[in-house]
Amino acid sequence: MFGTRAIIDLDALTHNYNSMRQLIAPNVKITGVVKANAYGHDLVTIGKHLETLGVDYLGVANIREGKALRISGIKCPIIVMGYTFEKDYDLAVKHDITLTLFSLEEARKLNLNASYDDKKAKIHLKFDTGFNRLGYKDPEELIESLEACLTYEFIIVEGIFTHLALDSIESDEAQFAKFEALMKQLREKHISVPLKHACDSIATIAYPDKHYDMVRLGAILYGYCSRKTPFNLKPVMSLKTNVTQVKTLEVGEAVGYDRLFVAQRRTKIAVLPIGYADGLPRSLSGKGRVMINGLLVPIVGLMCMDQCMIDVTEAGEVSLGTEVTLFDDTSPQLLELAKLAETNRNELLARIAMRVPREFIENGSETFVIDYLEDRESQYGDTSS
Ligand SMILES: Cc1ncc(COP(=O)(O)O)c(C=O)c1O
Repeated sequence: MFGTRAIIDLDALTHNYNSMRQLIAPNVKITGVVKANAYGHDLVTIGKHLETLGVDYLGVANIREGKALRISGIKCPIIVMGYTFEKDYDLAVKHDITLTLFSLEEARKLNLNASYDDKKAKIHLKFDTGFNRLGYKDPEELIESLEACLTYEFIIVEGIFTHLALDSIESDEAQFAKFEALMKQLREKHISVPLKHACDSIATIAYPDKHYDMVRLGAILYGYCSRKTPFNLKPVMSLKTNVTQVKTLEVGEAVGYDRLFVAQRRTKIAVLPIGYADGLPRSLSGKGRVMINGLLVPIVGLMCMDQCMIDVTEAGEVSLGTEVTLFDDTSPQLLELAKLAETNRNELLARIAMRVPREFIENGSETFVIDYLEDRESQYGDTSS
């Protein structure tokens, strides 16, 4: 392909998933976290690929992501890890999507909703052990809800989970201690819940004895983890584009809005068809570096919505069409861009825009392209002629 595109290497995903599967005890399940368009890699393609690899659950942030997976034909369990509004309970029941709950009132309403269809609604209860996002803060309240849910005819309690702040070993240990105290209370009451889980990617690597019944893996499947892993991770996404114009600036000539970059020497500038609306943070203006002809060169001037300019004076032969790599699987560019933009890799990946086509590699060669804008054409038809 030519132009701005994200290249998604499904072989790398397979490698990362299989490596994690081998690292984790066979009785511990894996949720593959595919929320936010699978961190920008394409929700349905990644969901399907993980399903073929044998993933136990797919984790999404909201019911609409869950529904999209289901209607694409995915059969494996799907859990919404975020909040689901009551109006969407029927979707969860209809599409057999597991919900995260943290109030008895909501469980009661979900039970009622599922009873209308004579179907079971599946839930995980969320315990807030210190992150202070979603979840029961009071373990007694959670136990009370759980005991009630276990009597509800149309509710199946599949799991209980928490999420770690990952600030320090001490704070993580305090969270694990709260979680384990809850599990002890449940054991004493002879209440058994199949899936207890707490670890995301970092915690799965950092706390191998805290995997409980399931781990929830996002970033590490996409090839990134800020902890050292016992195997090499393979980044799944590369972001590439091609030069659209090259020009030479004389000393004193400036580039772009606000004339932010002024040439101090005769400067060769290349224009790229990628800007902040494609997912490159505007804060990389004048800071980020991209790879061209094997050399890292600076982004100069203010990043535009759809384009940016790079200084290719030292980069050898550059002309219309020369390939430019924003980040790929062989260099630490994504981490560098994330640091310069004062964000993390997840955010950069998840914000790759809808208009950037995703080109998929499988078994070493390009297989198919997903272009969300072309999907619109299939939705509405081409009325231009
Ligand atoms: C509840 C929950 N579990 C697991 C994950 C996966 O995290 P990571 O991408 O760090 O593995 C997330 C992502 O933010 C999450 O919100």
